[in-house]
Amino acid sequence: MLYPLLRPLLFRLDPEKAHELTLRSLDLAHHCHLMRLAVPAPVIAPVTAMGITFANAVGLAAGLDKNGAHIDALFDMGFGFVEIGTVTPLPQPGNDKPRMFRVVEQQGIINRMGFNNLGVDALVANVRHSKRAGILGINIGKNAVTPIERAADDYLAAMDKVYPLADYIAVNISSPNTKNLRQLQQGDELSALLLALKTRQQALADQHGRYVPLAVKIAPDLDAAQIADIARLLIAHRIDGVIAGNTTLSRDAIAGHRHAAEAGGLSGAPLTDKATALIRALAVELDGALPIIGVGGILCGRDATDKIAAGATLVQLYSGLVYRGPALIAEIARAIAQRAANGN
Ligand SMILES: Cc1cc2nc3c(=O)[nH]c(=O)nc-3n(C[C@H](O)[C@H](O)[C@H](O)COP(=O)(O)O)c2cc1C
Repeated sequence: MLYPLLRPLLFRLDPEKAHELTLRSLDLAHHCHLMRLAVPAPVIAPVTAMGITFANAVGLAAGLDKNGAHIDALFDMGFGFVEIGTVTPLPQPGNDKPRMFRVVEQQGIINRMGFNNLGVDALVANVRHSKRAGILGINIGKNAVTPIERAADDYLAAMDKVYPLADYIAVNISSPNTKNLRQLQQGDELSALLLALKTRQQALADQHGRYVPLAVKIAPDLDAAQIADIARLLIAHRIDGVIAGNTTLSRDAIAGHRHAAEAGGLSGAPLTDKATALIRALAVELDGALPIIGVGGILCGRDATDKIAAGATLVQLYSGLVYRGPALIAEIARAIAQRAANGN
């Protein structure tokens, strides 16, 4: 495929510029019906979770298309589902650049983007203009200027607007790049937030005549007691799914690298084992009560089937696309389908 040829050129560019160029090229390939030259045919291997049937188990993780401006091109790449966002109620610029760093030697990325996005109204307009040829998740967050005590207001405001358009809504309480956000994963704060979200979900389901599942996205930097606590609350509040997980603050896996001291979340291969361990621990606590979407350092089929073996029903990827290109999507979807066919 084309990507191994393009990668060295893209890696000579600043990571954020390469990101924008790649998305523009994908849009072009989609509009000119050229995507089939660049990516393998989509894998059809249906999986059901959260009451939704996905064409295959492989999704795009949040953060790559924060404004939902590239939905049709992304579905054309063969994803079973695409998660757009994180979107906040109001537009915000995010952190100062540079804010994305490649850790090439270890196939990792550090980012401190800080929810740069055009706001929920722009995202809604983009979704309305898209064909949405698959399952669309919309990931919501809070604006940086909103005090953490008022976080629920932001999630509810974003939820009201995306609800009629989303197949599921992801609630991001685990970005390391919004001050105090991860505090929302703790005990009373989490319980209050989940209650508010669940109450609004019921009201919106009545209003729109359609139930849209809620999936909560958590961090990989949690100890066993925190994981048990979160699992208990997700079950108690009848949350529909959990996305495990976000980027890590740990630098153990890239100690000594020249970017290791950059602030932000680390993703890609240095996160693989940590994310799988999170899924495994969470699966024990949840005991099948709700499905896990496994994310973090999936760079080959084996990484993905390890996540499924640990307890995930679906997987998502971001950094793997940067290092392996779009051929990875079909490779992973096939590996998961093969594992299921073998009865595992
Ligand atoms: C540049 C970048 C931006 C990201 N932005 C978001 C975001 O806005 N919201 C979110 O929930 N996760 C975001 N993530 C985290 C990913 O969705 C994913 O959870 C994480 O990168 C681990 O998966 P990976 O190793 O396949 O990249 C971002 C990741 C990267 C690399």
